Amino acid sequence: MLQVTTTIPATRDVIRKWKKDGYSVGLVPTMGYLHEGHASLIQKCREENDRVVVSVFVNPTQFGPGEDLEAYPRDFERDRALCESLGTDLIFHPEPEEMYQDPHAYVSIDTLSDTLCGKTRPIHFKGVCTVVSKLFHIVTPDRAYFGQKDAQQLAIIRKMVQDLNFDITIVGCPIIREADGLARSSRNTYLSPEERQAALCLSQAVARGQQIIAPGIASQTVIDAMTAVISAEPLARIDYVSVVDALDMQPVDHVEKNVLVALAVYIGRTRLIDNFLYEVAP
Ligand code: PAF
Repeated sequence: MLQVTTTIPATRDVIRKWKKDGYSVGLVPTMGYLHEGHASLIQKCREENDRVVVSVFVNPTQFGPGEDLEAYPRDFERDRALCESLGTDLIFHPEPEEMYQDPHAYVSIDTLSDTLCGKTRPIHFKGVCTVVSKLFHIVTPDRAYFGQKDAQQLAIIRKMVQDLNFDITIVGCPIIREADGLARSSRNTYLSPEERQAALCLSQAVARGQQIIAPGIASQTVIDAMTAVISAEPLARIDYVSVVDALDMQPVDHVEKNVLVALAVYIGRTRLIDNFLYEVAP
């Protein structure tokens, strides 16, 4: 039966009992307003663990000044129903005051955080690493599940787990898309019907990049082709289109090793991201 906890001690009590009984625990960290992308993470977590924990917490420390912290969509009852239908055992749903007492410590993995989204959102990954570390300490999961849509976040969390010796397996899960290609995101809800249509330029740019990328190709050729697709959409404004090393997130001139091709685009006031991984055979 689904339980909901709002405090750290109550959450630890539940987990302690499970661990005593020998159950494995999987964690799906979320900011709520769950969609098919989250559902795929929860399903994978359900398949691989005896007990499934979903955290629902809109984390204030990962939003910069002027970003959408207040506007971020919330609907806990809907999230609870979805979690229940997917066989979740526990939702951890704390208030900000339960998670943070000012002043508080931060966790920061600087090496992978200075490119892509980290450039536009300088404090974002520090906030993500801080809250994910806290969730890892509170829930002590065996495995934790993250979407490939937030590819830089996934790379940073893998690095954090390695650098800080968390005994947790990080499981990356594929991007889930709408039927017309738009990557699922809680922020899609901000889009007007006209913007929703315009937002297709992200997945179209991804498709164009996938079409032309090849071993040895200049990154700029890929970037130009993808930029042309987005620039044809009047409601779109490019934040970045980049080709980076899949491990260290640093830009590469040519596609000679595994790369992440990532983009962030404003559609009206809404900033959306998308990406694809390209593996170069050894
Ligand atoms: O990907 C998200 O929804 C958030 O960044 C996360 C990992 C739940 C941390 O707040």
